[in-house]
Amino acid sequence: MCGIVGIIGQEPAAPRLLEALKRLEYRGYDSAGLATIVNGHIERRRAPGKLAALAEAVAAEPLPGTTGIGHTRWATHGAPTEANAHPHATERVALVHNGIIENFAELRAELSAAGYRFTSQTDTETVAVLITQLIDQGLEPVAASQAAMKRLRGAFALAVVFAGRKDLLVGLRRGSPMAVGFGDGEMFLGSDAMALAPLTRRIAYLEEGDCVVLDSNGATFFDESDHTVARKVSTTAASGALVGKGNYRHFMQKEIFEHPTVIGDTLHQLVDPARGAVTLPDLPFDLASLSRVTLIACGTSYYAAQVARGWIEKLARIPVETDIASEFRYRDPVLAPGGLCVFVSQSGETADTLAALRLSKALGQRTLGIVNVPESSIAREAEAMIQTVAGPEIGVASTKAMSAQLTVLACLALALARARGTLDAQGERRLTAALTAVPAAAAEVLDTEAAVRRIAADIFEARTVLYLGRGQSWPVAMEGALKLKEISYIHAEGYAAGEMKHGPIALIDERVPVIAIAPSDAHFEKTVSNLQEAAARGAKVIAVTDPKGARQLEGLAHDCLVMPAVDAFVAPILAVIPVHMLAYHVAVLRGTDVDQPRNLAKSVTVE
Ligand code: AGP
Repeated sequence: MCGIVGIIGQEPAAPRLLEALKRLEYRGYDSAGLATIVNGHIERRRAPGKLAALAEAVAAEPLPGTTGIGHTRWATHGAPTEANAHPHATERVALVHNGIIENFAELRAELSAAGYRFTSQTDTETVAVLITQLIDQGLEPVAASQAAMKRLRGAFALAVVFAGRKDLLVGLRRGSPMAVGFGDGEMFLGSDAMALAPLTRRIAYLEEGDCVVLDSNGATFFDESDHTVARKVSTTAASGALVGKGNYRHFMQKEIFEHPTVIGDTLHQLVDPARGAVTLPDLPFDLASLSRVTLIACGTSYYAAQVARGWIEKLARIPVETDIASEFRYRDPVLAPGGLCVFVSQSGETADTLAALRLSKALGQRTLGIVNVPESSIAREAEAMIQTVAGPEIGVASTKAMSAQLTVLACLALALARARGTLDAQGERRLTAALTAVPAAAAEVLDTEAAVRRIAADIFEARTVLYLGRGQSWPVAMEGALKLKEISYIHAEGYAAGEMKHGPIALIDERVPVIAIAPSDAHFEKTVSNLQEAAARGAKVIAVTDPKGARQLEGLAHDCLVMPAVDAFVAPILAVIPVHMLAYHVAVLRGTDVDQPRNLAKSVTVE
């Protein structure tokens, strides 16, 4: 997943391209580059590493030109070196790419045999050479781009400029997102609306298979049959303001401290506290007539979906399945007619989740997206969308979006139960009251930061950490392990506490901290037994619990992170906050790049 941007402008392109790339760095930061048209020729500046390195290169050797393209990379093919950095170019063509060209090897062999030479290990360079060959064979740039697109297999969003054509910018889209920005006598291309927001708020999106041809006066869209088509231009809500860190050291810390706010803002959209009732947006399907619910997501969003399975089955008494999107799309799923597939995604652009959405629609399922980016592909392609009101999430490790996702999913569970008659008005009032108490409780959890730092100092040198939980605490345990892995680089596993005896307990000795997600709920006693088995083998047990649980864990737990006592219904929403805080402070102690951890990117738009 990479960030791409293109400009046909009236002022120097390089600074504007760099500014736009700053808003796309969450999509990848292995290397970056620019290309502009200067006196009819293509000029490039590229640098390995983060965008700051490219900015230094451009400052050292300014890049003129008002038409250009830019790229920030998450490496798929080839190491993050300058040679592999985009834009890739020939004398005639320069382009930037987000996605994966699956048949690049055969194309590269064919082009090499025709005498074309390559300077990188990337799949992307093959496309630049292919378009060049087609131009060499007499096609005009646009026709060459469209012909090349038909030769490509895989996912791509491509922005292409051409030597000698200052007033031409071509965009090609299949499987990866691309937006067109409409300026006054200027035109723009970008991976998303946020990148273009400082340049324009008038945005259109390419659909699957689209080619768009930009000049300074506007855009012409072509579908994959090369027929001109119209694409809706709307005013984006994306803000041009670059989200800052405020007084926080990292975006992730800031976003952890936004948990209470985003839970409250999301509840404000979905719960009427006066009536004690959930108020979902109108949905194009009847919740009462659904035969089953399938929750599909990746990573943290998948763990939110797993927590929600407990709510929906328990309250609405409807069969629920959860699926990792990358598995769902290839397992030839048997989906009962009249089922609802729910796609949980912060970015709304995760390639596997988007592919699973398209498969579900093809299989006749009703579809609902729960997304944080309202103009994202999943939001636009699902039948309906409920937005998590979390605001832009910049830290690569998802935090505040997860608690917002859980809030939406809890409200969906209540709405399903009410529609199916398994929850009466009194029960709905009680549970919505429990939800409206969560923002204040979440703020209290944030006050435990001193205890979190203490525990982080205790475990940050561990080589492996186990997170255990039962029931809905099990996916919270897996989320805690994921967070620790992805930002501190410590190996961690989240496991169903009851499963330890079936193998993983062999991992335990005094060097292995065990983090137990153990609110004093119906699973508590059984979880305590598992913790005693772990402690008996030397494990240092640390409990995420509540005051009652902490009292009962005295003598067994080495330390506790104590959350306020809340209704068991909402305990999982609270429990993600301590595990996010713990991972953050461990990573800070280990000196890793908390906001942009190695090898990762915020939005996984490649499969
Ligand atoms: C979360 O901390 C990870 N960065 C990652 O697992 C993420 O949750 C996953 O890629 C799904 O992203 P999405 O919610 O944007 O679809």
